[in-house]
Amino acid sequence: MKKILLLCMALIGSLLLVAGCGGNTASKDGGSDKAKVLKVATNADFAPFEFQGADGKEYQGFDMDLIRALGKEMGMQVKIDNISFDGLIPALQTGNIDVAISGMSINDDRKKKVAFSDPYYEAGLTIMVKADNNNIKSFKDLQGKKIAVQIGTTSATEAKKIPNAEVKELNSSADTFLELKAGNVDAVINDKPVNDYYKVKNSDDSVKRIGEKLTLENYGIAMNKDNTELVKNLNEALKKLKANGEYNKIYKKWFGTDAPAAT
Ligand code: ARG
Repeated sequence: MKKILLLCMALIGSLLLVAGCGGNTASKDGGSDKAKVLKVATNADFAPFEFQGADGKEYQGFDMDLIRALGKEMGMQVKIDNISFDGLIPALQTGNIDVAISGMSINDDRKKKVAFSDPYYEAGLTIMVKADNNNIKSFKDLQGKKIAVQIGTTSATEAKKIPNAEVKELNSSADTFLELKAGNVDAVINDKPVNDYYKVKNSDDSVKRIGEKLTLENYGIAMNKDNTELVKNLNEALKKLKANGEYNKIYKKWFGTDAPAAT
């Protein structure tokens, strides 16, 4: 009997303790701490901007370092989710996430749906072909050819404009490279830094890059149009990182050179 009583008392005691703790946390950091989480989404298959490291633990890349630095600057805790590229804008529109940073090019079509930060990187589209392909030397040579692109990207939009081209839309840029190497397509179109990183990082002699750049595209961080406060804060933080050298440090880490003066 005594034993049972003791057990009951211990049980009640621990219940009170748990309740007490719960109450404490709620009152201590309740609403304010919640508001400090910055919900970020990206499509982490786009090196060197966002990709999963070999250990599979942390998302790496220029965008990932940048958003963490921006979050720190704004005093916010950054939580990153990996979703499909064509799911980013819908996730912003429904308010499931606060920002999308994913090498996303600012363009008029997207500006109708989301707000963008100031530009943070200048890219553009290039072609990659098999090393032994001597027919494709520029974009105009892609007419009637099989081309792999990532779904929902500016590469996909541009590829579809090429007369008689057969466009294969795949889930990631990594998939476009696989398709090229397998000989299933004649060419891939991707953002220049992504083609460059793939070629150099893998020292892949079986593919070659075509120098011509089809477009000039500026990357921006996308947010919900109604979130004007966040757009303002993020732009201010970005300006600070550019002024205090932090942006340049991240740029140098991933691209090996100083950031161009304009960015
Ligand atoms: N810059 C291109 C676009 O905005 C491609 C971006 C793809 N990004 C990614 N993380 N997969 O459409």
